[in-house]
Amino acid sequence: MNAVTPDQLLGQLRWRYAVKKFDADQRIPAPTWAALEESLVLSSSSYGLQPWKFFVVETPATRERLVPHSWGQRQVAEASHLVVFALKADVGAADAERLALRTAEVRGVPVAATDGYRKMVANALASKPRPEVDVWMTHQVYIALGHFLTAAAMLGVDTCPMEGFVSAEYDEILGLPALGYRSVVLAAAGYRAADDRSAGQPKVRFPHAEVVQPL
Ligand SMILES: Cc1cc2nc3c(=O)[nH]c(=O)nc-3n(C[C@H](O)[C@H](O)[C@H](O)COP(=O)(O)O)c2cc1C
Repeated sequence: MNAVTPDQLLGQLRWRYAVKKFDADQRIPAPTWAALEESLVLSSSSYGLQPWKFFVVETPATRERLVPHSWGQRQVAEASHLVVFALKADVGAADAERLALRTAEVRGVPVAATDGYRKMVANALASKPRPEVDVWMTHQVYIALGHFLTAAAMLGVDTCPMEGFVSAEYDEILGLPALGYRSVVLAAAGYRAADDRSAGQPKVRFPHAEVVQPL
């Protein structure tokens, strides 16, 4: 195990902040970006369902086109990378089956051995009304966002999590409905600009004792 120290962890978490202005000339090196993509793959989710896809928007013209649909926030165009965290449409029995098949493949067990789990997951999804399932699955997408922000901070990569965009307009521009997905939240990733005024701002957090309480 190669655990970081508490000081290293807290150092990176205090270093990170939501970047308002990225250095448009600085790219994340390929091996670092590959690790960040893999951190998305490794994110945890309820029942392990992974009801998501992470669209990495690469075309500069497309990213520029997204700016007016992002409250004019230029991080979308100027950061090294832009990830659109998307939720799979209509998560249900077919997804429980996909997970069961993958489990059998990865763990080298017969598909029949995963049947009980598949049924349990399918029942859990079927027992809730569709809007409730959508909210539940949306929570999973946010877990991936948090995972990504922390992973990036550990690698010294800056990020900005972003809800300030119009999901339906993103979906149309990126063609997500045809792929069976809907945008939920964004993360821009790269390196802070030397003149990003937010960089020097002290972090605003409520005191530890107000946030963490022993019972
Ligand atoms: C889900 C989410 C959505 C956010 N949306 C935006 C956004 O659209 N634009 C922006 O500049 N910051 C956005 N932020 C950044 C928050 O304002 C910021 O994380 C918060 O003020 C705490 O500051 P810090 O992250 O710099 O420590 C968002 C943060 C989260 C977690």
